Amino acid sequence: MADIDFDKLKNFIFHVFDQLGGAVTAAMIHLGDRLGLYRAMYGAGALTSAELAERTGLHERWVREWLQGQAAAKLLDYKGDGRFEMSPEAALALAEENSPAFAAGGFHSLPQQFSVLERLAESFKTGIGLPYDAFGHEGAVGIERFLSPWFRTFLVPLALPALDGVVPKLQAGAKVGDIGCGAGLALVEMAKAYPKSQFHGYDISKHALDRARANLVETGLRNVTFHDASGDALPDDASFDFITSFDCLHDMTHPDLVTHAVRRALKADGTWLIADINAKPTFEENLQRNPMVAMMYGISVLSCMSSSLSEPGGMGLGTLGFSEQLARDMTRAAGFTRFQRHEFENPVNAYYEVRP
Ligand SMILES: C[S@@+](CC[C@H](N)C(=O)[O-])C[C@H]1O[C@@H](n2cnc3c(N)ncnc32)[C@H](O)[C@@H]1O
Repeated sequence: MADIDFDKLKNFIFHVFDQLGGAVTAAMIHLGDRLGLYRAMYGAGALTSAELAERTGLHERWVREWLQGQAAAKLLDYKGDGRFEMSPEAALALAEENSPAFAAGGFHSLPQQFSVLERLAESFKTGIGLPYDAFGHEGAVGIERFLSPWFRTFLVPLALPALDGVVPKLQAGAKVGDIGCGAGLALVEMAKAYPKSQFHGYDISKHALDRARANLVETGLRNVTFHDASGDALPDDASFDFITSFDCLHDMTHPDLVTHAVRRALKADGTWLIADINAKPTFEENLQRNPMVAMMYGISVLSCMSSSLSEPGGMGLGTLGFSEQLARDMTRAAGFTRFQRHEFENPVNAYYEVRP
């Protein structure tokens, strides 16, 4: 056996169990969100476990264990005397669903994401991954809650006005498509703001489309239609003024073919807004410049790369696979000639305005 540095070994074991600490703390965030514990603490000052149990209708002993774990993980503040408080910053991340900083949605479908581990072990052998529908209804709700804070806050007031000539077209009445629309909230936000325009969402996930249709009914909007892209794909008729795709090209089995389809669907003076992970072109750069890189590779195996390999011959880009360079190359190959990068108040994503 090689010489072992026992200090190094001890530190390494701490490091390994830190990963388990992250996983179980993530499970506790899921429960705190699901059981309304964070929402009950929001603006309530310092509470005892008995007071929080009373507010939530839960058992005190369970709430106390959860609170102590949350304070130990530095998610809630321990104020002494058995009292725990949520800081205003923690409230924005964990309790305020409408805040752009809301992060608890990212923990919504943790049970579903981990429930596919058995099947993913098989994927390592077959090479074939799982589509988003493998996570069921709650998987679609999880993505919706994870990604929609940005749509509610920044899409209409910040991103659209920065695109060349898009807002006047939307005001006058444009035809708009959202590819990989998920639960449809990007379209809902745009459709509310621009009632003269017609909006079309395309996705292949039945669960996401169910959520999208339910969200639409709730708003009462009449200018949005959702399409199951597996049988009702984007038409090849150069009829769209504006197309968007948010956080989905790296999930697709054939983003290159979709890029060609978007080019054929767009008018000659149309615009495509692509949002994707701010990935660097090489592993080395991602490692050096992305503080969330380990989490992203994990999410990639659990969902993004898995989805992008869910059919034989899938391109398999995964979470960090769609860099700006690849976006430039792929869009140029499909006949787009103009490409501009934007930053829109999102530390994770890059935004590309692409035009024929
Ligand atoms: C991470 S989700 C993003 C959903 C949505 N754009 C949002 O931001 O909330 C990726 C979506 O891409 C969809 N998708 C994957 N491949 C697709 C394809 N070939 N055509 C349309 N949608 C696709 C998935 O079903 C999933 O709903």
